[in-house]
Amino acid sequence: MTGKWITFEGIGGSGKTTQLNLLYNYLKNHSIEVILTKEPGGTVIGEKLRGILVNDLDIHLEKLSELFLFEADRHETIKKIVEPNVKAGKFVISDRGIDGSIAYQGFGRGLDIEMIHYLTSLATGTKKPDLTILIDVDPEVAQQRIASRSNVDIDKFDLEKLQFQANVRKGFLYMAEQEPKRVLILDGSVSSEELHQKIVNVIKCFSEDLDIL
Ligand SMILES: Nc1ncnc2c1ncn2[C@@H]1O[C@H](COP(=O)(O)OP(=O)(O)O)[C@@H](O)[C@H]1O
Ligand SMILES: [Mg+2]
Repeated sequence: MTGKWITFEGIGGSGKTTQLNLLYNYLKNHSIEVILTKEPGGTVIGEKLRGILVNDLDIHLEKLSELFLFEADRHETIKKIVEPNVKAGKFVISDRGIDGSIAYQGFGRGLDIEMIHYLTSLATGTKKPDLTILIDVDPEVAQQRIASRSNVDIDKFDLEKLQFQANVRKGFLYMAEQEPKRVLILDGSVSSEELHQKIVNVIKCFSEDLDIL
């Protein structure tokens, strides 16, 4: 089987982690070799960076430092998880991927988009996800979901105002516009089960050699 790298993007509360877990179980049940990872996180260094970037509310980073650390995490994930596993013919599915910095540090925090594109290209090299599923949801709906979510680690980006989330959403939609062949927008307002079915159909069409599915 040819290895594939599939990323899930979208604002906090859009349903990424829910769908990743459903897809992971689905692929496993169909005997597909699949690796589940996340950005930031996923590698030993990435887990430390995740603490600094996402979980620790007492750390205030300068905007550029935040961007550099996200790019460092991205480089670690691509080198240590994505490239070797895809090369070995596995499916790597990732909770967020290369588009987050345009959305969060660019559209969210206001850093220059071209500069972010350039830094991300340094971090990722020529490697791009084979497919990116953008789960698009209204920020108000997403915030309501976050408020009722339990048992997850604190994410400081989820605590940002509604306007910030709306800007981040625009950033993801901008990426989909820039790269329509790679980034597929799916409506995240439907039920988890319905969205899962759609994602399974997309994966089936996308991977012709996965006749086992
Ligand atoms: N399609 C959906 N409809 C309603 N609630 C959902 C849906 N998908 C996820 N949720 C719930 O919303 C919350 C946020 O989902 P989650 O998967 O953690 O989002 P993300 O990883 O994008 O932040 C969780 O409590 C989850 O159970
Ligand atoms: Mg999540």
